[in-house]
Amino acid sequence: MRSSPQQAPLPLRFLVGLCVALAPWFANVQTLPGNPLVGRQLAERWCASCHLVSPLPVGPVGDGAKPFQSIADRPSTTPLSLRAFWQTPHGQMPDLHISRREGDDLIGFILSLRRL
Ligand code: HEC
Repeated sequence: MRSSPQQAPLPLRFLVGLCVALAPWFANVQTLPGNPLVGRQLAERWCASCHLVSPLPVGPVGDGAKPFQSIADRPSTTPLSLRAFWQTPHGQMPDLHISRREGDDLIGFILSLRRL
């Protein structure tokens, strides 16, 4: 019993094909920085007193602070624009001293709400 040289590569070729087929999906998932689940917890703790942070309309929200859903849906919102916003002082929004890591998580969470 001698295995033919043609047999071994077949499952391998299938695996490579699968990876190639899934690559765009992985690439898409990885364009978001940080961990959206951690970001959601941070948002609920720090931001929910003023912003509507969840996609569901629940609870009262402060004046002038837009729901994260509408911030996420705006095409001009990018990881850079979000980070720039909370790294510069804003009249009505307090400086929350968000670290780079926390910022990544919050960005990941906010942009994960986007419905496009
Ligand atoms: C004390 C209330 C308050 C808290 C807490 C707060 N915000 Fe805000 N936020 C505001 C207000 C008011 C504005 C609108 C101010 C402005 O446009 O200058 C705003 C604006 C923003 C914007 C810009 C929206 C836009 O139109 O571009 C972002 C992004 C944002 N907040 C993110 C956050 C995040 C993330 C947190 C939590 C880490 C947070 N905010 C916590 C009050 C708050």
